[in-house]
Amino acid sequence: MAELHHETFPPPESVKNEAFINSMEQYKEMYQKSIDDPEGFWSEIAKGFYWESEPTGKFLDFNFDVRNGPIYIKWMQGAKTNLCYNAVDRHIDKDGDRLAFYWEGNDPDDDGQVTFSELKDRVCQFANVLKSLGVVKGDRVAIYMPMIVDITVAMLACARLGIIHSIVFGGFSAESLADRILDAKCSVVITSDGVWRGTKLLNLKDIVDKAVEKCEHVGHIVEHVIVSRHLLPEEIVVGEGDEERQPAVRPCRHLNIKWNAPRDKWWHELIEGASTDCPCVWLDAEDPLFMLYTSGSTGKPKGVVHTQAGYMLYSATTFKYDFDYHPDDIFWCTADVGWITGHTYVTYGPLLNKATSVIFEGVPTYPDPGRFWQIVDKYKVSKFYTAPTAIRSLMGFGDEHVTKYKRDSLKVIATVGEPINPEAWLWYYNVVGNKKCAVVDTFWQTETGGHVITPLPGATPTRPGSATFPFFGVVPEILSEDGKTVEGEGEGYIVFKQPWPGIMRTVYGNPQRFETTYFKKFPGYYTTGDGGKRDKDGYIWVTGRIDDMVNVSAHLLSTAEIESALVEHKLVTEAAVVSHPHKIKGECTYCFVTLKQGNKFTADLIHELRAQVRTKIGPFATPDFIQEAPGLPKTRSGKIMRRVLRKIAVGDKDIGDVSTMADETVVDELFKRRPEDA
Ligand code: WTA
Repeated sequence: MAELHHETFPPPESVKNEAFINSMEQYKEMYQKSIDDPEGFWSEIAKGFYWESEPTGKFLDFNFDVRNGPIYIKWMQGAKTNLCYNAVDRHIDKDGDRLAFYWEGNDPDDDGQVTFSELKDRVCQFANVLKSLGVVKGDRVAIYMPMIVDITVAMLACARLGIIHSIVFGGFSAESLADRILDAKCSVVITSDGVWRGTKLLNLKDIVDKAVEKCEHVGHIVEHVIVSRHLLPEEIVVGEGDEERQPAVRPCRHLNIKWNAPRDKWWHELIEGASTDCPCVWLDAEDPLFMLYTSGSTGKPKGVVHTQAGYMLYSATTFKYDFDYHPDDIFWCTADVGWITGHTYVTYGPLLNKATSVIFEGVPTYPDPGRFWQIVDKYKVSKFYTAPTAIRSLMGFGDEHVTKYKRDSLKVIATVGEPINPEAWLWYYNVVGNKKCAVVDTFWQTETGGHVITPLPGATPTRPGSATFPFFGVVPEILSEDGKTVEGEGEGYIVFKQPWPGIMRTVYGNPQRFETTYFKKFPGYYTTGDGGKRDKDGYIWVTGRIDDMVNVSAHLLSTAEIESALVEHKLVTEAAVVSHPHKIKGECTYCFVTLKQGNKFTADLIHELRAQVRTKIGPFATPDFIQEAPGLPKTRSGKIMRRVLRKIAVGDKDIGDVSTMADETVVDELFKRRPEDA
């Protein structure tokens, strides 16, 4: 096993003193109960929520083993509840005036706030709008919005009515958005006019227009595009179409918004006069709540489906214990709501706990790299959650941007999205946290709904780079390639042996893919696709993906997805993409492309290929390295040897056993053509 960072950090006394769980003994006792008697453990937690009616059958029913028939997972079947009711309405009587969100704009002078009562009114009004447009339980609605309060309003309004929301991250291109709208057959898209990110003003509406057009080309009609007005009047011009219906807009320097009436509708016009009363639809525990697309190793994204009761119990419980949330805390998760982290820890987890949290529109480096800590001081944030890529990037700007701010409110500082290197962990602990905060490295996936391996801030002694131990109800194992359980110290595939409430239930429209992706390789287990190690003290260290996925700045991408974007270029015959280490992003992509005979590999072509990936997938997927590959290393049966390509990408000549390679001469050629900066 490679060297692990074995320095251990006990939980800070101040955190421990007020923690729900303040010793490993207490954790172990609760953990044991959660896995020996999941029904007893979770039914106790369920008592803290509102149920319109009790379960009618087994509290937990599942099959995790393909050899025994189809995979299924059902928690609290027959119970009726509503997540929106539990996240919002339940708190109103006693705490309606409590703040649900501080909203912090991209511009440091732009901010706002919303109480639980106001949130309820806004959600009800918008739910009434959806109803009036004929959207009903089970319909899918796509949401493509920036980090503004309306995105949570849209989610909660869907949840209130049993409408399945499918949020697409605002960094995806029109094509990616169109693919997701089509796969889920959404007839409504909710968006915004635009968004400021740092110095950039992005025209979200224009991207939606293009996506909707693409859908129309293949015969799918999006009936309603609802546009939340986020920009100031002087920042937009609404052109083309029904001028009469437009609010007064002044000519502007910035954005041109096309308007296609009657399809396009302003949110603020729709809610005018809409009632602030809207009864919740009582839903079955296993009714779908939302779907969220995540990259798949075959290239086509998978719509991960989460359901009402299980996701509710799990998002709320992980939020409470892993951030040790108390009523006087201010929580801030910097993740975009377009990713699972934002679903669970910007919207649902905090609201279910009646928490006050921050929603931030902007970026960590605008107007300067001290922005995060300025916001921490402004709102007295005590529990902070971000990604290693942000930590590494801010580390590069120097400590003075951090130390300039007090940060004395911070107690728990957490990370998610990718393995955190010990250097970044230690900087986070020493500089950001002033050696007095608990660092909580949470491992989980879109599919797991919430944290599955994580320290508890008041109980777990942490080690830089280790996500430590399983959360309640989660039974991790490490398996060898041939499926044997690795006991004690060792390395292999990270799998889970039994379901916890927040695990995904299926892939939207494709139960077969759900089984093959997660349950086939090791029958009896949910396979994460990640590799990991267990040290001699039982700490788990997630080392990263061992399938064809790349984790770029905590955004999971499949290499196949990028390859298919590249081969769509008219000069490209074949492409192979592998991951390459990157100082800030963690990983980046390195692409090998084979051109059609007689074509030159030029700087212009590289430019075109990068642009191609941007338009097909989105700006965050833009490759860092592209090199020409006159031939690719393949086995005699024609399979690309990615293991060899990964070596070439980093310039490591020790490529290992190549006895199965059809033509070894390609390897030298590839080494010769590596770009200088790689
Ligand atoms: C990676 C994000 C190491 C992992 C919540 C996983 C991590 C993928 C960690 C899921 C962590 C997430 N340590 N790796 N703490 N957290 N990952 O679906 O490879 O966007 O499989 O969910 O991110 O990414 P996803």
